[in-house]
Amino acid sequence: MGQFDLTEKTALITGSGKGIGREIALKMAAAGARIAVTDISEEAGEDACREIRNLGREAIFIPMNIGNPDDVETARNIVLNAFGRLDIVVCNAGITFRRGFADLTAEEFDKTIKVNLTGTFNTIKGLLEPLIEAKGRIVVISSASAYTGTGGGAHYSATKAGQIGMTRTLAKELGPLGVNVNCVAPRTIVTEILDHLYPPGSARDALIEQIPLRRIGLPADIANATVYLASDEAGYVSGQTLLVDGART
Ligand SMILES: NC(=O)c1ccc[n+]([C@@H]2O[C@H](COP(=O)([O-])OP(=O)(O)OC[C@H]3O[C@@H](n4cnc5c(N)ncnc54)[C@H](O)[C@@H]3O)[C@@H](O)[C@H]2O)c1
Repeated sequence: MGQFDLTEKTALITGSGKGIGREIALKMAAAGARIAVTDISEEAGEDACREIRNLGREAIFIPMNIGNPDDVETARNIVLNAFGRLDIVVCNAGITFRRGFADLTAEEFDKTIKVNLTGTFNTIKGLLEPLIEAKGRIVVISSASAYTGTGGGAHYSATKAGQIGMTRTLAKELGPLGVNVNCVAPRTIVTEILDHLYPPGSARDALIEQIPLRRIGLPADIANATVYLASDEAGYVSGQTLLVDGART
C-alpha cells in the first residue's frame, strides 16, 4: 500500500473493467476507498470487483455507458444508495482507432466525440451534486495525444485536448465549491488500446527507443498519479495536466 490514504472515501471510475481504469480502481481500493466500478462490459466490471473484494475492500459494479446521461443518473443513485456519498470521480473510459483524416468519416468523428468528450461531460454533470457535497475530486484521463496529435487520428486528439480545456474551466468554476479537477495525460501504456495501435513486435521495439526511460508505461504508472491527485496531499493542485509518459513527450 502506498502512502496516500483514501480511507472513508468513495470513488467511481468509468471504464474500470479493464486497462488503466481497472488499475486505478485497484490502487484506490488498496489506498482504502470504496469503489464503484462502472463499464459497458458487465463481465469485465464484475471481474474487477472480484479482484477488489479479494483485497478485502468494498466494490460494486454499475453498468454505465458514459455516452448515455440516463446511465449516469442511475449510477449516481446506485452509488449513493450503496455508500451514501461520492468523493472521487475518475473519467477514464475512452475509445480510439487508427484513421487518417482523409478516410475519417463524420460518423466516426461524432462517435469518438460522443464517447470521449461528451461522455466526460455526462459523467461530471451527472455526478456533480454529490461531488460538491463531499468537496470531492475529479480526475480526467486525457492523453499526451492532446499535445502530440497522435493516438489514432484527429477524432481522438480533438477529444483529448477538449478534456484538458474542460478541466481548466471546471477547476475555475468548481474551485470555490471545494472541488479540485485535474487531468492525467498518459502516453503509450500497455493496454488493449495500445495493442490495437502498436501490435507487439518490431513496431513496439522501435517505440521503446523513443522513450527516454526505456520502457512502455504500465497501468500502475497512471494509477499512482491518479491516486495522488485524488488524495488530500494534492489539496492545492487543480486545473493541471500531469503528463505520465517516461519523458517521451
Ligand atoms: N493505453 C494508452 O496508451 C493510453 C494513452 C493515453 C491515454 N489513454 C486513455 O486512457 C483511458 C483508458 O484507456 P485504456 O488503454 O485503459 O483502454 P482499454 O480499451 O484497455 O479500456 C477501456 C475500458 O473502457 C470501457 N469503455 C469503452 N467505451 C465505454 C463507454 N462508452 N462507457 C463506459 N465504458 C466504456 C471498455 O469496456 C474498457 O473496459 C482512455 O481514456 C484512453 O484515451 C490510454
